[in-house]
Amino acid sequence: PTALAGRHFLKEVDFTEEEFRGLIELAAELKAAKKAGTETQYLRGRNIALIFEKTSTRTRCAFEVAAADQGASTTYLDPSGSQIGHKESVKDTARVLGRMYDGIEYRGDSQAKVEELAAYAGVPVFNGLTDDWHPTQMLADVLTMTEHGARPLTETAFAYLGDARFNMGNSYLVTGALLGMDVRIVAPKSYWPAQEIVDRARALAETSGARITLTESLSEGVAGADFVATDVWVSMGEPKEVWDERIAALAPYAVTMDVLRATGNPDVKFLHCLPAFHDLGTKVGREIHERHGLDSLEVTDEVFESAHSIVFDQAENRLHTIKAVLVATLA
Ligand code: CP
Ligand code: NVA
Repeated sequence: PTALAGRHFLKEVDFTEEEFRGLIELAAELKAAKKAGTETQYLRGRNIALIFEKTSTRTRCAFEVAAADQGASTTYLDPSGSQIGHKESVKDTARVLGRMYDGIEYRGDSQAKVEELAAYAGVPVFNGLTDDWHPTQMLADVLTMTEHGARPLTETAFAYLGDARFNMGNSYLVTGALLGMDVRIVAPKSYWPAQEIVDRARALAETSGARITLTESLSEGVAGADFVATDVWVSMGEPKEVWDERIAALAPYAVTMDVLRATGNPDVKFLHCLPAFHDLGTKVGREIHERHGLDSLEVTDEVFESAHSIVFDQAENRLHTIKAVLVATLA
């Protein structure tokens, strides 16, 4: 068993810097083993429940493939196909699933729900995204940055542009703070993380040596950045009416080639957790295109398809890092 055996994975701030780095190292080892065809199965006979109250492509597939690679089996409970939230409380669900499964993944809206699930399940619970945090995404993004970065994380500058008062912005701020990075939140002030989260990040920075910047200034925020990241401007669970105000507020923070040039770093890399509105060919995208006449939203297609973009390495790393969480907690 590893040092994290039996632990939940609910949010980044539950972990020390050493524990978080340990998961990244384990993910890198598991990735190398899979590529070499020498992966050892540590989870044979284990069963994992996957509760998705919101939709998913990457997170669901990463959990399913990671479990299968490791010899475990999964049960997928979709947003409408179980009693959760309709007829049965989180507390009762936790106690039922905890009797049958060795671990439970949960994606939904409130962090309180995944914390309650963890309090009553009696087995490790994994946060597959809430409105507040996206911790498995952070493991993937940090692994991707270590693979593409020229310097150690403590000498790496990371700028997040866009809606920073939701899961991705919150998670990047505290993760960068935990790992001692130069982390910048670049957005209109009303889109910065809540003060309580900024305070947590500043407290973490005192021990890690992280530099934390929150700024409305695009040029200040991206200067010298090694990585520039963004996320969708309207998240799952938000009403589509908010698109108008988001586009008005965040359009100046869209990641364009000019933004990448403004870093002054010819090797700057672009990150996006995906899905991304880089072209508006999807159903939602076409509606927005018709209404606003835009061709892209948070990132241009030019950036997304450029050599700066490492978004598919990032997506692949969801698999290896989620596998690390499963192995660390359940093996
Ligand atoms: N990045 C991410 O969590 O993707 P999914 O919503 O497809 O799981
Ligand atoms: N902020 C986005 C992230 C998707 C992975 C959302 O919550 O929809």
